[in-house]
Amino acid sequence: MKVYISRNIPSDAIEVLKEYGLEVAINSENKKLTQQELIDACQNADLLLNVGHADLDKYFLESCKQLRGIALASVGYDHVDLETATALRIPVSNTPDVLSGATADVAFLLMLAVSRKAFYRANEVREGKWKDFEFMQDLGIELNGKTLGIYGLGRIGLELAKKAKAAYNMNIIYYNRSRNLDAEQTVDAKYVNFDDLLTQSDVISAHTNLSTETQYRFNKDAFQRMKKTAIFINTARGKVHQEQDLLQALQQGEIWGAGLDVTDPEPMSPNNPLLQLPNVCVLPHIGSATIETRTQMAIMAANNLIAAKNGNKMMQIVNKEVYS
Ligand code: DGY
Repeated sequence: MKVYISRNIPSDAIEVLKEYGLEVAINSENKKLTQQELIDACQNADLLLNVGHADLDKYFLESCKQLRGIALASVGYDHVDLETATALRIPVSNTPDVLSGATADVAFLLMLAVSRKAFYRANEVREGKWKDFEFMQDLGIELNGKTLGIYGLGRIGLELAKKAKAAYNMNIIYYNRSRNLDAEQTVDAKYVNFDDLLTQSDVISAHTNLSTETQYRFNKDAFQRMKKTAIFINTARGKVHQEQDLLQALQQGEIWGAGLDVTDPEPMSPNNPLLQLPNVCVLPHIGSATIETRTQMAIMAANNLIAAKNGNKMMQIVNKEVYS
């Protein structure tokens, strides 16, 4: 059986695929493929290891209906039309858990960097604007004992909560569709409604998947309800916040700062006015980008394809109904 790998992945994962007798073809130039190029490349394949967030929509899936499995090298699957995949009996897997620590690290990094205006101040040094020791210029705010509100407290949110508690003894509150009793026990997290999350948090960090319910949940109205001293962090998906509303909230001082690892669209334009603001840090979607985590993600994806090749259920299946 043949696997097509849509972008470069760590060689350990390629070895795993080969060891289990799969023939591997890879996007050897590692170039960003158009949908048609990906469709063409998949015509010869039985399985797809998909890297990145390009749309695997109805048209794509119907054009590649011979696929016996798609393993995503991501935890998010908002770019896949799961209904069509299920109807075509194509199992789809993702990579939960292995990236939780690394992604929470980036949320923590952004929270701290925004609170101390670190990226902005570092740029000043690069641009030769460091002239003297200034006692009152661009002061930051501290996180110690503050309240961290988590929107979507799952595995990644819990990792962040543990770090925030250990480092700064932050109080943890959260809003989810359902209670997370594990988090309530581990970090003494308090379940609140969305409005309380907005009004009580000193930092709000989004860790939700993207759905019709979560899209643009952080909009003008939400930012207006937040504390003027609050920091907004998003390492989930760029469409969870409304970018124009965020810009306006920051410019008008409705919130204090923002740290984004995800934007809408991606990549963000270098001319985006958010990049000029002192209290904003933007990273290019690097939540899981460590050697260790990317290797584990790729190996997890490879193992799911091996299961599909052997006619077994994928371990990290996202469209479970495909097996019913
Ligand atoms: C994920 O795993 O969903 C991250 O966004 C990286 O793809």
